[in-house]
Amino acid sequence: MNGQPWRDVDGQLIQAHGGTILGHQGTYYWYGEDRSQSAFVAAGKRVVPFTGVRCYSSSNLRDWHDAGRVLTPASDPEGRLQVTSVVERPKVLFNARTGKFVMWAHFDNQDYTYAGCVVATAEAPTGPFTVHDVLRPNRQESRDMTLVQDGDQAYLCFSSDMNQTLYFAQLTPDYLGLTGFSAKILVDQAREAPTVFHAGDWYFTITSGTTGWRPNPALYSRSRFLFSGQKLIDNPCMGPTAATTYGGQPAAALAIDGRWYLLLDHWQPADLSQSGYSILPIEVTGRDLHVAWTQTPFGGEVNA
Ligand code: GAL
Repeated sequence: MNGQPWRDVDGQLIQAHGGTILGHQGTYYWYGEDRSQSAFVAAGKRVVPFTGVRCYSSSNLRDWHDAGRVLTPASDPEGRLQVTSVVERPKVLFNARTGKFVMWAHFDNQDYTYAGCVVATAEAPTGPFTVHDVLRPNRQESRDMTLVQDGDQAYLCFSSDMNQTLYFAQLTPDYLGLTGFSAKILVDQAREAPTVFHAGDWYFTITSGTTGWRPNPALYSRSRFLFSGQKLIDNPCMGPTAATTYGGQPAAALAIDGRWYLLLDHWQPADLSQSGYSILPIEVTGRDLHVAWTQTPFGGEVNA
């Protein structure tokens, strides 16, 4: 049920927080943060561990099979990813030119002062993903982020400048690096948890405000062009819990059978492993968006 933790076919809690769902050759792959390991104290400091990015596969978007941790901390202390790293909001694209699956995720240290990305690749959707690079895109800070595919180009969309401004940065044709071309799309609006999609004549974003794990009102923005400034319009949610985005925060916009859906995380900061999910239909009417609450995932429209 939307808003609640979800279980896989083995009855285990799905650990795919801050994630995305990729369709590839008739199968859906859900990637996200595995939060199953609780926080611990090391050298007097509280550590929220990086356990791994987990992947689940499904043919019907309802029955999810655990494919395990597809990106994990290094076994050697010199490795880029450690248990003490922060790896959040993993997003995966298939690159048709190279035949590789490319993952970008927010990479950070425990106090979120590094503010960069990890780039990892795999030969198969279920991994294993190997780290290709850890970087700050165009030497800028990057925290909450997503990937956007537009025609044969792909972009990193990321919150930067102390989370004040949302940028697009163009990826190289192999999706492994950046061309250097970038644009500010929401300037000084303090938006994060970006989701981006194209419908009709418009490019839309749905983002959250910057209140950490605490839910706040989502806002959508639109522009006719990918690189011109987006204009913030309104909260697409409706009813009494609109002000908290139904208790959720955007994770990804999903294109399924020609319709757009919004994947939300319902964070439980006291025990992140218990965080829930929702998948809600995005109603696009010309240039306006609405996201209504539904108890059933996908509003009951997709095998649910
Ligand atoms: C939120 C962000 C999450 C996570 C959290 C940590 O603002 O959207 O992905 O980084 O802060 O406090």
